[in-house]
Amino acid sequence: MDRLIINGGKQLKGTISVSGSKNATLPIAVAAAILADSASVIHNVPDLRDIDSLCAVLQVLGATTKFKNSTLYIEPGNRIAYEAPYDLVRKMRASIYVLGPLVARLGVAKVSFPGGCAIGPRPVDLHLKGLQQLGAEIEIDGGYIIARTDRLVGAEMYLRGPHGSSVGATANVMMASTLAEGQTTIRGAACEPEVADLANFLNVMGADIEGIGTSTLTIRGVKQLHGTEYAIIPDRIEAGTFMVAGAITGGDVFVKQAPAQHLGVTSEKLMEAGVQLDWTDDGVRVRTPQALQAVDIVTDTYPGFPTDMQAQMMGLLSITPGVSTITEGIYLDRFMHASELNRMGADIRVEGNRAVVRGKPKLSGAPVMASDLRAGAVLVLAGMAAAGETIVSRIYHIDRGYEGIEEKLRGIGADIIRVSD
Ligand code: EPZ
Repeated sequence: MDRLIINGGKQLKGTISVSGSKNATLPIAVAAAILADSASVIHNVPDLRDIDSLCAVLQVLGATTKFKNSTLYIEPGNRIAYEAPYDLVRKMRASIYVLGPLVARLGVAKVSFPGGCAIGPRPVDLHLKGLQQLGAEIEIDGGYIIARTDRLVGAEMYLRGPHGSSVGATANVMMASTLAEGQTTIRGAACEPEVADLANFLNVMGADIEGIGTSTLTIRGVKQLHGTEYAIIPDRIEAGTFMVAGAITGGDVFVKQAPAQHLGVTSEKLMEAGVQLDWTDDGVRVRTPQALQAVDIVTDTYPGFPTDMQAQMMGLLSITPGVSTITEGIYLDRFMHASELNRMGADIRVEGNRAVVRGKPKLSGAPVMASDLRAGAVLVLAGMAAAGETIVSRIYHIDRGYEGIEEKLRGIGADIIRVSD
């Protein structure tokens, strides 16, 4: 397995570019492969393991996919299979996205029940509830979800769960309702930019969706959708991660293509902590001209503070004077990175879904282990700020969501190399 070896203490300086959004690409690729009756060309697609894994699932379902120079070509199969097998789905939670499109297109779908992961249980009850409201019959058998219908019929529904709106359930049900008979209204829909990007893509394919970006989506079913050409939005979480990289090393970094309009609360919190952000049309300059100050973070659904930026912020607050608190409002157990940061000399105490972070003057390098995508990212950030050498193992978690992370960070002065065992 690969590891990253980082020698910390260098102030990062220069321009680092943001790739396309992983979490917009995943549902858009599914829509192109299953809902369309012709080929699509999708630009600004990041080169990530998650995208590769999803394409493997789409190929099993009959689609042809080809990825080159950030462009993904997708040709739907003229015969679409309806089963997404366990050995592929277990590697790729987002495969659950094929459920709605398959049952809308074929009237049947068989998808392995996705497992949990390091950030806690990942239920799909809202996905199933929404599809049932559209008329799908759902059965769980042998670890598979089997959905069947003669024809989906539009319906009114409310799709929030105990932790608020659901990105995945909104995407799944919205995709299915584009081919349902009549009108569907989804109240309590997720407003994340990635859901809006999917809705925009579906409309370019010929769907009829209104309320994009709001918590009430209205979808009028159409007979068919056609392939199209489209460019994915920039990845706001990768951008936020690089903004923290500039701040945690006390550097002067320009994050090119950072989407200002999707980073409102993240920017506010960084500025409240004393980070100087200068936004221009094509990105943001990040500096820390003054001492940082402790802040309190509560993660929430969009436009609140993103849970996918929680770990990165914890890394920054680990070396911010004072006592900060982080409350995780979305996942039950997304603090695995706290113990790894404590191995580097941080002082973080986790109490349920709340972490208390007492800032230390400096972290010290250590061998640490990534437990999930964003936990891995914060260990790289902390390693770049720490004195001495940090070795991050299990970086396949990082490769799921960050395109060429070590090359990009080396480009702004980080001392970081990848070694393969
Ligand atoms: C998406 O996951 C993202 N993944 C996650 O990013 C992100 O953390 C999450 O949204 C929240 O923003 C992709 O887009 C591929 P949810 P998703 O459904 O759709 C509960 C990353 O780092 N819930 O919005 O699975 C759920 O347990 C990944 O890129 C139900 O209760 O998240 C959670 O507490 C990690 N029932 C909350 O809702 C359901 O049926 C939000 O989950 C579905 C979800």
